Amino acid sequence: MRRRTTFALLASLAGCARAPSPPPAAPPPEEPAAEPETKFAPLLDIDDPAREPDVVFWPTPPSVVEKMLLAVKVTKDDLVYDLGSGDGRIVIEAARRFGARGVGYEIDAKLVEESRKKAKEAGVDHLVSFERKDIFTLDLTPATVITLYILPGMIERMLPQLARVRPGTRIISHNFPMKGVEPDQVINADEPGRAHSLLLWTAPLKLPRRAPAAAP
Ligand SMILES: C[S@@+](CC[C@H](N)C(=O)[O-])C[C@H]1O[C@@H](n2cnc3c(N)ncnc32)[C@H](O)[C@@H]1O
Repeated sequence: MRRRTTFALLASLAGCARAPSPPPAAPPPEEPAAEPETKFAPLLDIDDPAREPDVVFWPTPPSVVEKMLLAVKVTKDDLVYDLGSGDGRIVIEAARRFGARGVGYEIDAKLVEESRKKAKEAGVDHLVSFERKDIFTLDLTPATVITLYILPGMIERMLPQLARVRPGTRIISHNFPMKGVEPDQVINADEPGRAHSLLLWTAPLKLPRRAPAAAP
């Protein structure tokens, strides 16, 4: 298991042990919903030596994985995308338990290899695959279920992609909110001594509305 990067990143994920704060309220509906603008710097290619994972591998505990999959009601007809798939546990469990197809997208080559090995061991390698990709470059429209355990800033950065998913796609985030987009449901997934919450949206997302441009 790879746990490199800074103390600050570890601390942010360790913060998952606390109850998360409620998602921020959307601004007043001044104008029709528009595609969110990206205000982040351009991405470095994943093969660029300067490119680091945007968050460390910090796994979702098995009991919480189970609650996530039950919350989105995964079936064999689903195609599950886990964005930042770590050791592959979410898509492997969705395939093992519910017969769902899945793809895990992960930036760390070693974790991609580990996931493929685990899928084979679990006998679900015909249902799932793992790709070394940067999640910010993905087309998410094939998915029917999207699972997230990434930091709020990363979810915000993915809003343009999430805004385009097919209607009816279920999106579930372990602990972290989607800026400006109220979840349809928040589910308590606490374990003894550790707080977890699951935030669930069904597409189309109710995106934040832009304030009108100031008069010249
Ligand atoms: C907190 S872990 C979650 C792992 C898994 N989804 C789970 O819930 O157990 C986040 C994962 O995202 C990966 N990651 C970070 N930045 C990424 C990026 N830009 N594209 C793809 N994966 C990324 C990390 O390597 C890490 O494995």
